[in-house]
Amino acid sequence: MTVRRGPFITLEGIDGCGKSTQAARLARWLQERGYSVERTFEPGGWEGGRTLRSLVLEGEISDPDTELLIFLADRSGHLASVIRPALEAGQAVLCERYSDSTWAYQAGGRGVPPEKLRGLMELCGFPEPDLTVFLKISPAAAAERLVKRGKADRIEAGGLAFMARVAGAYADLAKAHPGRIITVPAEGPEETVALQIRREVERALKNYFEVPR
Ligand code: TYD
Repeated sequence: MTVRRGPFITLEGIDGCGKSTQAARLARWLQERGYSVERTFEPGGWEGGRTLRSLVLEGEISDPDTELLIFLADRSGHLASVIRPALEAGQAVLCERYSDSTWAYQAGGRGVPPEKLRGLMELCGFPEPDLTVFLKISPAAAAERLVKRGKADRIEAGGLAFMARVAGAYADLAKAHPGRIITVPAEGPEETVALQIRREVERALKNYFEVPR
């Protein structure tokens, strides 16, 4: 019997959108529905990724190309050692941040030319997620949450104008990929956001994945 590849779901949004809280809830819900879930994240969600994560978030990287290449290197390692093996084993992969983060932060936020990024992504051969949940929140509301959380990392410290560019890029991505990216308003109470995510993911799972195993 061949194992059907598991669904590949990513969670995206600007810093402070509540991604990790919602990822934990969604992972639990998927498990309750019988999925074996590999919950993971970028940057750094693999053996070896911890070094790259601290290099890119805490190191002194000021060159946008260098920053970009570290995120891509991290994704290559993550795909090879965590994401691909889990999908091939039939597990559902739930990943906080993936290629849309690179489009939003490095192209949208830092201004890396889109054609350059497209070329690099194609060279890397990264697969598209089946479904992406974009948690939409205004940069001002997200900044308020981040202040409560404490110290910002190097990228979060980019300021409101940077985060507004990232937010704009996410909105453009959602428009460009309406079949894959589901936009969920994320400013409301945690439970309300979680319910809406579940509703949308349930619908997508029915449409795309619920064929006999
Ligand atoms: P994240 O782990 O979500 O931050 P935290 O744990 O503090 O919530 O992401 C770390 C930062 O990395 C975030 O500011 C977004 C950034 N990032 C990029 O700029 N490009 C990328 O390709 C990825 C994956 C993340």
